Amino acid sequence: MKSINEINDKAIKSYMEDKQFDDWKLNYHLEMNFGLINDPNGLAYFNNEYYIFFQWNPFDCEHKFKHWGLVRTKDFINYSIPKAVLAPDDWYDKNGCYSGSGIVIGDKLNLLYTGNVKDFQGNRSSYQCVATVDKKGNIVKKGPVLDTIPEGYTPHFRDPKAYKMGDKFYFVIGAQSEGLKGCALLYESADFEKWSLVGKINTKYKDFGFMWECPSLLNINGTDILIFSPQGLEKEEYRYQNIYQSGYILGKLNYNTLDFDHGTFEELDLGTDFYAPQVFKDDNNRDIMIGWMGLPEEENDHMTVEHGRVHCLTMPREIFIKDNLLYQKPVEEMKDLRQEVIAEAEGVICTEWKSENTNDNSYEINAEIDRLNADHIEIKFMGIDDEYSKLVLDFKNGTGILDNSSILNGPKSIRKFKIEKDEKVSINMFVDKSAVEIYLQGGRYVLSSRIYSKNNSQGIIISSNEEIKINNLNLWSMGGFK
Ligand code: FRU
Repeated sequence: MKSINEINDKAIKSYMEDKQFDDWKLNYHLEMNFGLINDPNGLAYFNNEYYIFFQWNPFDCEHKFKHWGLVRTKDFINYSIPKAVLAPDDWYDKNGCYSGSGIVIGDKLNLLYTGNVKDFQGNRSSYQCVATVDKKGNIVKKGPVLDTIPEGYTPHFRDPKAYKMGDKFYFVIGAQSEGLKGCALLYESADFEKWSLVGKINTKYKDFGFMWECPSLLNINGTDILIFSPQGLEKEEYRYQNIYQSGYILGKLNYNTLDFDHGTFEELDLGTDFYAPQVFKDDNNRDIMIGWMGLPEEENDHMTVEHGRVHCLTMPREIFIKDNLLYQKPVEEMKDLRQEVIAEAEGVICTEWKSENTNDNSYEINAEIDRLNADHIEIKFMGIDDEYSKLVLDFKNGTGILDNSSILNGPKSIRKFKIEKDEKVSINMFVDKSAVEIYLQGGRYVLSSRIYSKNNSQGIIISSNEEIKINNLNLWSMGGFK
């Protein structure tokens, strides 16, 4: 295995040189120039900067050799050159520095992650480990703070997400019972060093997949939210369409009994590429979520693999509660990437609106639509003739489809979902070369997908079965991260 210094020399070189990239190279989504990335880790606001760590195999496009990578930013536009900061080179993390979280204590950012260890027969052990980051940027591994797995659970025990409440520290961790059911356990500590099990979080989902990865427990304005990524849910016609899911339950957690009084599990994203999100609070009290824009076991579906890199992270999204649901919107800072207005429309009544110029597929479009008598609205983007991606909103049946079946490269995916029958439609869509994020109805529904349309498959058309009225439409070209 190459050392962290060699990886970082390679990173510096590849970010400094004027490299010619392929058509799929992203402008304003975080991806690495080489290797495979997955879950965002250790998200925190520390020392006046956002710290975004992530799972990174800097060697190739396989799920192996998991390091933690790091980028820092003050504004979500200008980023530091990525660095590998934790390598799987100690006995307690030798098969991967797996996912974990970050929490600021005093003048240090404390990282808590899972050390994944396998023996010769492939048997797994799991160690929960700490590393600290000081204000000068020195990162020091401290080793395991928890080296046992509680009775009744298998070694699929990982992804501790720490938080502080009152004068106690807690972490919630993904687990699998010996009956092979996924769940989340809660631990507590007075000093972030000695941890004891509080117990299992009691939800009504007792038989809901074989493993829950990357849980996060948060509280927004008095409401408790458990976000987790269950594996093993049956695919249904309008939900659970990806190989694994990510979603949340929302309600009230009783910290004495660990009974969680909650509503139904809602998926966070309905697109083809979203998993293992993590949420943190910044100094402006915003709850910011970043997801992995990818899914396990699908790396070879991606066109970037032949260029030595795969996957990216979603844009940072602010999350908030409305009508007992989590809504998402890209952080305000993303607006600073808007360049010129390519097209506008206000009060336009039509059955078709079109722009052939979409700035080489690096744009944002915003529109509010009065449906009038129309109940079928289609948006074709990344191409309008033979090859395109199509979002269909069918308000008669209350369903939506993201249809990539005419896309020539990569997966010909189709995703179906249910939508409420609103009179108005709001769309905020970000297209970034081969990454698309669509926010519908003010962020009630979000779809994130990697779509590999040919670079010349440009354009966007909004059409409907009856006249609609288009308001506040703005199409901006988008610049890139620096
Ligand atoms: C989720 C996950 C985590 C694990 C990490 C390993 O994508 O499988 O459970 O810690 O990725 O990279």
